[in-house]
Amino acid sequence: MRILLVGGGGREHALAWKLRQSAHCDTLYAAPGNAGIAQLAECVPIAPKAISELVAFAQQNAIDLVVVGPESPLIAGLADALHEANIPCFGPSRAAAQLEGSKAFAKHLMAQVNAPTAPFAVFDQPEEAHAYLRERFIQRPCVIKADGEALGKGVFVCETLSDALDAVEFLMVERGLGEAGQRIVIEDRLHGREMSLLCLTDGNTASPMPPVRDYKRALDGDRGPNTGGMGCYTPLPDATPELIQTAMSQIVRPVIAEMARRGTPYQGVLYAGLMVQDEQPYTLEFNCRFGDPETQVLMPLLESDLIELAMATIAEQLHTTPLQFSNRAAVCVVLASGGYPHEYRTGLPIEGLEAASQLPNVQIFHAGTRAEGGRIVTSGGRVLNIVGLGATLADARENAYRAVEQIQFEGMHYRSDIAQSVL
Ligand code: AMP
Ligand code: GLY
Repeated sequence: MRILLVGGGGREHALAWKLRQSAHCDTLYAAPGNAGIAQLAECVPIAPKAISELVAFAQQNAIDLVVVGPESPLIAGLADALHEANIPCFGPSRAAAQLEGSKAFAKHLMAQVNAPTAPFAVFDQPEEAHAYLRERFIQRPCVIKADGEALGKGVFVCETLSDALDAVEFLMVERGLGEAGQRIVIEDRLHGREMSLLCLTDGNTASPMPPVRDYKRALDGDRGPNTGGMGCYTPLPDATPELIQTAMSQIVRPVIAEMARRGTPYQGVLYAGLMVQDEQPYTLEFNCRFGDPETQVLMPLLESDLIELAMATIAEQLHTTPLQFSNRAAVCVVLASGGYPHEYRTGLPIEGLEAASQLPNVQIFHAGTRAEGGRIVTSGGRVLNIVGLGATLADARENAYRAVEQIQFEGMHYRSDIAQSVL
């Protein structure tokens, strides 16, 4: 088969690596890819949001399957455009991707099917949001969320009423995140343990992947600013089969059934961001795609053929195609540019990649890298994902950090406490 992978981060390198292992994969293209993906695929300079260019490329190159990494093209309708051109796409339609594209849409849908989530209200007017906060915040701290697509920057977990009022001002009045803040969701703050539950679904059948815990803050001990993710691990000793069962039966399956009932069936990966409070899972958010960096620990453990899974999803035949993972452990450590998530320099040479990649039980997935004059240099905030594998989390962690020690670039920073608290 001829496959086009859309995206160019660590998630997409992990997907490319797994797609390449399939006997069905004859040719792999990536748009736009990165220096790591370039070792597995032919990279073409098309941006993930350039929908008509992607469709034209897929038509001209007789692509049999498009696999979409990031949310933006899905929310903008890439799957629909490919569908119209009769090109199979792994990823939900624009209507189904609303589960990530609009927080208000997702919250209303959860409320409709009684899926546990924090109590909430939706606002189009800043004055009304302010009035609600003045009443509500005294009893319950609130979280302010931009309704629209905000690239992970639209959520404000506020400590004080004044922070919450400022967040409303920033989103709705100053339009600090543009159109995304035209409408906001205010919800009660939950407390507990977070987990990412990624599920594969064809619109009828839904199969959970092993839950993953990711680390969003920049510094050890969950300090510093929020980032796109500084590492993650799986399995989670605290994610019991009963808990996953509850999340599937109370949240994931009712949501998928309702999407189908509305005539907008959800197909692809449905990622539920959960907060477990008093052993009850609540949904914080849905994502319409694989997680980053969750995918970097899931792909090395996935035993099933990813292309067969994608095709079964599109053909609504997931019930005949088991989703199998090994019961080993995986720990991912993200190596970031100095200054990330704020300003950082790029173009810095990376040393030690070769040595690190030769270590046993290690997989390296590139995120922000590019080839320049025969070397690999940094080109983004998150640069590399170092994944250690092992029979236990302790082994996996040791293998990841042993590889991290081999790698060096100017300003490189990473968290040294990924998966530490579980050991
Ligand atoms: P979201 O993009 O909606 O998942 O929000 C990003 C992050 O904000 C989550 O991973 C949580 O850490 C935090 N968060 C979101 N909603 C809540 C909530 N209701 N209570 C506590 N923390 C939250
Ligand atoms: N790891 C968070 C996300 O992919 O959105």
